Amino acid sequence: MHSFRYVRGKLHCEGVSIESLVEQHGTPLYVYSQETFAGHYRKLDEALKPLDHLICFAVKANSNLAVLRTLANEGSGFDTVSEGELRRVAAAGGDLKRCVFAGVGKTEDEIAFALKRGIYAFNVESEPELLRINRVAAKLKRIAPVAMRVNPNIDAHTHAKITTGTYENKFGVAFEEIEGIYGRASRLKNLHLRGLQMHIGSQLTEVKPFEAAVRKVAPLVDLLSKRHGFEFFSIGGGLGIVYDPALASGTAEWWNSPAARKLLTPEKYARTLIPLLQPLGLKILIEPGRFIAGNSGILATRVEYVKQTGRKNFVIVDAAMNDLIRPAMYDSYHEVVPLRKRTGKRIASDVVGPICESGDSFCKNRPLPKVAEGDYLALLSAGAYGSVMGSTYNSRPLAAEVLVNGSQSQLVRQRQPIQKVWDGEKIPSWL
Ligand code: LLP
Repeated sequence: MHSFRYVRGKLHCEGVSIESLVEQHGTPLYVYSQETFAGHYRKLDEALKPLDHLICFAVKANSNLAVLRTLANEGSGFDTVSEGELRRVAAAGGDLKRCVFAGVGKTEDEIAFALKRGIYAFNVESEPELLRINRVAAKLKRIAPVAMRVNPNIDAHTHAKITTGTYENKFGVAFEEIEGIYGRASRLKNLHLRGLQMHIGSQLTEVKPFEAAVRKVAPLVDLLSKRHGFEFFSIGGGLGIVYDPALASGTAEWWNSPAARKLLTPEKYARTLIPLLQPLGLKILIEPGRFIAGNSGILATRVEYVKQTGRKNFVIVDAAMNDLIRPAMYDSYHEVVPLRKRTGKRIASDVVGPICESGDSFCKNRPLPKVAEGDYLALLSAGAYGSVMGSTYNSRPLAAEVLVNGSQSQLVRQRQPIQKVWDGEKIPSWL
């Protein structure tokens, strides 16, 4: 599901033409569809209905307050990895009692903050962290709800930089060590052993690795649950989305194609996993980020120059790797479409940003319609790990963000004023 489509030749987000938004707010501009965020959440919620479950949206995928509010209104919990993310959830009106707190490097201050605010559980990544949480909780005279993160050593068959569930990764505790740790943890006075968690990787487009991980870990959960009185089992996030239309129909409306629908759907995910999870009799948590946010946003950009060299057609746009780093960092595919539908001949083009690095490129030799200075393009599927991974590299201000709801739209993050890029910097007194 997806709410970006051409209406009378102009790319729309729900009922709003994106061209009208770029004219009003400038570019680069992230445009989000509220209906898509909520729709994806509901789809997953519906598929998991046979289970007592809690969806904890992975805030790292898109932490804009308006996005968090949209999901909080749907009843979502949140998967967080820092005090900053917990504070964002609170600022957006989310319920911290429905938050889990993951990450390998939680500081004492962050642990204390989360304890005082009463989160649902810490997803604990090591035994030293467990001891630290117990110590901080004792100091605050509280009981900390915890779940160890088990590393099931299952290859998720995804990009090396986003796979997390093998022993090559820094995450979680080896499957073989979990039972012993819970035994020792049960003797620590300020812990409540509330459950167990895992997460094997991101952008998984097949159900098999999820199935293998659940099959491997469920018996352990069952054993420990009976021993320690668990309340939940979190199976993490990782549901992949369609980025590449070559996987689907090859048209600009690929997301509606039968091939796109054949990919890992919430129904298939649920159909495979529910029979394995239901017998545990526990609350099942999932932590989707990309599935909810990925196709809920696009990045709109303006063509500044078209530069033809002997060999290449470079389309130089005003968005860059500082706005959307995924292609530079993971060689990720993002579909590029013009805001005004074009027919006619396609030209092999490199869409590149203005940053002084060869890696500042969104695609290479991609057959694209002919465009000219002043035209606008959209980089699709940019709602997850887009704006949140933005930086001010090359002293470029952070992009603006707009949320669309039907025929309404509002700026949900203003473009960073240029002076703010060096705000907080100081020239020392000796200079
Ligand atoms: N839970 C945990 C513990 C995670 O580490 C992650 C993502 C998620 C849930 C959410 O995963 P998702 O459902 O979104 O796949 N920047 C990369 C992705 C990094 C993912 C990090 N962890 C990208 O742009 O592809």
